[in-house]
Amino acid sequence: MKFFIDTANLSEIKEAQDLGILDGVTTNPSLMAKEGIKGKDNVYRHYKAICDLVTGDVSAEVIATDYKGIIEEGEELVTIDAKIVVKVPMIKDGIKAIRYFSDRGIKTNCTLVFSAGQALLAAKAGATYVSPFIGRLDDIGSDGLELIAQIKNIYDNYGYPTQILAASVRHTMHLIECAEIGADVATCPLSVITSLLKHPLTASGLETFLADHKKVNG
Ligand code: G3P
Repeated sequence: MKFFIDTANLSEIKEAQDLGILDGVTTNPSLMAKEGIKGKDNVYRHYKAICDLVTGDVSAEVIATDYKGIIEEGEELVTIDAKIVVKVPMIKDGIKAIRYFSDRGIKTNCTLVFSAGQALLAAKAGATYVSPFIGRLDDIGSDGLELIAQIKNIYDNYGYPTQILAASVRHTMHLIECAEIGADVATCPLSVITSLLKHPLTASGLETFLADHKKVNG
């Protein structure tokens, strides 16, 4: 399973990249706003800075919601860097735009996906990635991981090449269960990735090893 980091924070992206396990980055307008990035030039410069830090795909979301606007914005976004993937919302004009981009070899990430039917449409339109939001489904008493399993089953049935990018991943169990189900990618905050490192038996075992070594070696 690929690990993407879900942030626009440059130091967190660098930290994940330096760990040697990072496969890509996802951003959205809320994450860009959180970093205080405003104005088109600054936003585009920030995307370029992210691309310069990593080796994998970087999702940049369009703001337009009409077909013509999405096409124009997406075509401009991909001029920033070859790593840019155009992130398009799951709306009617978005699906049409994903077909347009797909026919021209431009990578897309269909975002704000909350049902298997939406994921099926995204795959049929040729999306490179589909982003089901696990945590937000859990928030409303639904089962986000069940949706990942459903989409996996549907895509496997027909051999759709669209990659399942589990998003709104909030904790390590989300991440591990996504891997068990067979999601292609999980995107999450840095804290979720680094939480995977932790186990109390690792910490106590290491403490004992070092103490025993010190007893003998001083
Ligand atoms: O990738 C989508 C993600 O940013 C949404 O996460 O935690 O705001 O639901 P969250």
